[in-house]
Amino acid sequence: MPRIAVLASGGGSNLQALLERLDTLGKAAPAEVSLVISDRAQSYALGRARLRDIPALHLPASSPEGALEQALATHDIGLVVLAGYLRLVPAAVVRRWAGRVLNVHPALLPAFGGPGMYGHRVHDAVIASGARVSGATVHFVDEQFDRGPIIAQWPVPVPAGDTRDALAARVLAVEHRIYPWCIEAVARGIVRLGDDGTVHGALPFDFPRFGVEGPQHPFVPAG
Ligand code: GRF
Repeated sequence: MPRIAVLASGGGSNLQALLERLDTLGKAAPAEVSLVISDRAQSYALGRARLRDIPALHLPASSPEGALEQALATHDIGLVVLAGYLRLVPAAVVRRWAGRVLNVHPALLPAFGGPGMYGHRVHDAVIASGARVSGATVHFVDEQFDRGPIIAQWPVPVPAGDTRDALAARVLAVEHRIYPWCIEAVARGIVRLGDDGTVHGALPFDFPRFGVEGPQHPFVPAG
């Protein structure tokens, strides 16, 4: 069973959503969260891990080069999941875990992503642009912020007069649903990054069919 490391800088609500999804799957879960790493000692993601006796590691920005790779290797990690992680993943990690590093971004990439585009900055930029749709994007991670091949996206409306907090909450609720499914799909091999750098396989998301209720779980778990 693939061992997942979750990397987070903030509250870790996406970590929590993943843990709860894996709880729901029980014995049918295709992977387990085996390590949580944060660059910030006060990140509540570390607290969430400790509550479940999952190893929780604080790796500050000042850590020696190679520390992240070393930690992932020591814990025999198969899948690396970024969940509100604000640091660039070192190229050595991206290469060694090629096709096995995922990220969630709170906008529809390739718009509103890249260096410095995180947290409320993303939602402020969306609102300032006048866009009427934002959303969540799950993608494979490459050596640049928010740029790797896209696995799944889900739109949310940006009504006139929207505020960044309301938009952030709307997008986060979608992240909590689609990210665990994408992680599950990659862990099961339903979706993978091909040698050609494109995404093979797909989550059968179908916007009109799911309508305004939002995304429903797209596939039946095996086993
Ligand atoms: C999420 O919006 C995620 O997309 C972004 O940072 C936020 C993290 O939230 N990268 P949390 O720490 O998972 O609660």
